[in-house]
Amino acid sequence: PGPDGVKRFPLRLQEGRAEMRPGKPVGTWGINGDYLGPTLRAKRGDRVAMNVTNTLGEASTLHWHGMRLPAKMDGGPHQMINPGDTWSPEWTVDQPAATTWYHPHPHGQTARHVYRGLAGMFLIDDDKDVALPRTYGTDDIPLVIQDKKFKDDGELNDNTGGTFGILGDHILVNGTYGPYFQVTTTNARFRVLNGSNARVYDIGFADDRTFHVVGGDGGLLEKPVPVRRFQISPGERVEIVAGFQPGEQVLLKSFDGDSDIGSGDFDLIKFTAAERLKPSAGLPGRLADLAPPAKPTKTRTFRLGGSNINSRNMDMTRIDEVVAAGASEIWELDNVTYSHNFHIHEVVFRVLDIDGEQPPEHLRGPKDTVFVPSGTKVRLAVEFGRHTDPKTPYMYHCHILKHEDQGMMGQFVIV
Ligand code: C2O
Ligand code: CU
Ligand code: CU
Repeated sequence: PGPDGVKRFPLRLQEGRAEMRPGKPVGTWGINGDYLGPTLRAKRGDRVAMNVTNTLGEASTLHWHGMRLPAKMDGGPHQMINPGDTWSPEWTVDQPAATTWYHPHPHGQTARHVYRGLAGMFLIDDDKDVALPRTYGTDDIPLVIQDKKFKDDGELNDNTGGTFGILGDHILVNGTYGPYFQVTTTNARFRVLNGSNARVYDIGFADDRTFHVVGGDGGLLEKPVPVRRFQISPGERVEIVAGFQPGEQVLLKSFDGDSDIGSGDFDLIKFTAAERLKPSAGLPGRLADLAPPAKPTKTRTFRLGGSNINSRNMDMTRIDEVVAAGASEIWELDNVTYSHNFHIHEVVFRVLDIDGEQPPEHLRGPKDTVFVPSGTKVRLAVEFGRHTDPKTPYMYHCHILKHEDQGMMGQFVIV
């Protein structure tokens, strides 16, 4: 923080060039660099001030996905930053430790802006002393997973044809092709973000070892959940802790899953463990005390069509839902078409059930984005914040970015 106690973050949206295949640099966009943006970090209680300067040739925005803040600071489609302008939102971080992220949200253009490289992680810390691996870059590692495809001339192919839009056949992790990581500790924590436009990944290790999910979008789980695979749809975050043996090599992979979006069979990143591993923080039996969802005062239903919600397309001038400050509500998602997912700005929610069944244990923590497979009903217990603003809406939408751009998005205000 500066002398005034405010933590300032200068961010510059800029053009760049990045090598996404050996010897073939392509035109990209980045934040303070050629591709993607820096990992930002703040603590609960911090006052943060962003200075987002747009040096691109077209207007964009920067949205803080997973951050609980006033609607004017949210960086949705109503907070456009014109070329040459600087946007300076400021807020006080007030939520538990979590892995959030940021990306543009210009209405109708989000897919292209994210695909060209505008995204980054924003880590929130709090005072709760949980004994998880926590040394950034050593045993606490961000993994931004994205898929790319290229045109004949070698440049990025951002043609969003097809039902789901861009599905690439080249995987980048943190903007890097053929990625590897040298493990130096007995345990390592990976903060996995699906930063892809459409792909849903089913992630696990090549040798099918068991590891633990410790957190999701909105923070830590009650306790570590052992898994061998987890599914992650665009915009979701999953935090895992994996154990390593000295000298071993193992791949993290995406396996062919059961979603109609197609996970594909991909190598994500290669881990090579050092011959001598330093003992790292283990796995605490208890991670967080999660209060059960409060008693809901209202139920709303959202019917997910092919590219609409409740048969309506996004309209920047229409407020779809009005929610009372601090309300707890049930949001019922009824997907009558192919797979979608659903993200709500500002809130945290808990997944109550998927087609009447309890969700898998690792999806029972606080979240802001959920996969809604083809033909299923998902019920969410949503907790809204207390930043009221009757005029400035927050968004809810499918995070398959082509669908979002097509208008599968609605607006709510908190009053
Ligand atoms: Cu990841 Cu409306 O955003
Ligand atoms: Cu968001
Ligand atoms: Cu969708």
